[in-house]
Amino acid sequence: MNFDEIVAEENQYLMSTYGRFPVVLESGQGCTLTDIQNKKYLDLTSGIGVNSLGHNHPEIVKTIESQAKKCLHVSNLYYTQPMIEVAKFLVEKGNMKKVFFANSGAEANEGMIKVARKYSFDKYGKNRNKILTLKQSFHGRTMATLTATGQDKFHNYFYPFMDGFDYIKANDIGDLYDHLDDSVCGIMMELVQGESGVIPLDYDYVSKVACLCKEKDILLMVDEVQTGIGRCGTLFVYEQYDIQPDLVSLAKGLGSGIPVGAFMASEKCKDVLSKGDHGTTFGGNPLSCAVAKTVLSIVSDPSFLQDVKKKGEYFMEQIQKIDSKIIKEVRGKGLMIGIVVDENQRMSLINQLLKDGLLVLSAGKDVIRLLPPLIITYEQINEAVEKMKGVFL
Ligand SMILES: Cc1ncc(COP(=O)(O)O)c(C=O)c1O
Repeated sequence: MNFDEIVAEENQYLMSTYGRFPVVLESGQGCTLTDIQNKKYLDLTSGIGVNSLGHNHPEIVKTIESQAKKCLHVSNLYYTQPMIEVAKFLVEKGNMKKVFFANSGAEANEGMIKVARKYSFDKYGKNRNKILTLKQSFHGRTMATLTATGQDKFHNYFYPFMDGFDYIKANDIGDLYDHLDDSVCGIMMELVQGESGVIPLDYDYVSKVACLCKEKDILLMVDEVQTGIGRCGTLFVYEQYDIQPDLVSLAKGLGSGIPVGAFMASEKCKDVLSKGDHGTTFGGNPLSCAVAKTVLSIVSDPSFLQDVKKKGEYFMEQIQKIDSKIIKEVRGKGLMIGIVVDENQRMSLINQLLKDGLLVLSAGKDVIRLLPPLIITYEQINEAVEKMKGVFL
């Protein structure tokens, strides 16, 4: 099929929920993707923060092949080893106690919400059930996580949304106090807001929130779906804020392309869920966990993480050096980078970069977001910067 035929069939058979770029991608190698016309693109998207080890990584391919020959799925009615190995690894690295496996970021966040509510129910009764989230946050597309998402534009059409959520201003501890009452059981936040524009929270604000949560026995839930698994230069971004959350959700980079989500729980809430309280058919399946184990064994290496941090700093510096009136600000952590540009020009810039063979993402209303594979090389960063120089004139 040629390009036009593929697009026509997509229109005919798929719900039109996505605005796609006019490219049909077919294969990838490292940080490069190739379309059906054999045009090559430098991938600064990682499939929206997923392909942490790039495309066709030999260790991932080997793991998939070898696990496929053993078993792909057996259900949670039986013990399997990959899930236990990954859980042990996450618990030790994250200084947490127990893990629940899901399939996506939204599902992991749903699980955290359930734990926060049940923790409070068990201890304080039924009326302490409110979750505070940040304005401009993004937590997923299920009904609970859509409600948790603190952006009005997501609160349309699908009424009724769920009770028991309220929204506070990021980096404003006063606003948190204004919304704090006896019904609050949890606070959920991304420490670097991704979808709304790569906005890192202030260190002091996060410290204060963490102290307050401890003092009031409110569970602190950190959504690391986008920031986690090395993306920001540490395995979890909360390490950079010197806090220990009660619950942490993960997905995206954990499977480097294989769908897997998880949330980790601290001592306080590790046994809140007991048999029958929660479940999911695919969660923790041997294939996804075998891959997650391989990803973690590579990404958690301190020198790999250090490298992510350095490459991120280098990338941001090089973009800042571009002599351009279009770039208003460059910000981020590790290889999670936001370039603030004029709102009206953003889409044409992204389309021009695409034409020049550079895949980038948008975020918020005026940000070009970069989430390259963590294995990107300095040469590839230089190549990307050269292409940007041509476009950000
Ligand atoms: C911070 C954050 N949380 C949750 C999600 C939802 O993850 P998923 O699309 O895997 O459900 C996303 C997705 O972009 C995200 O960035």
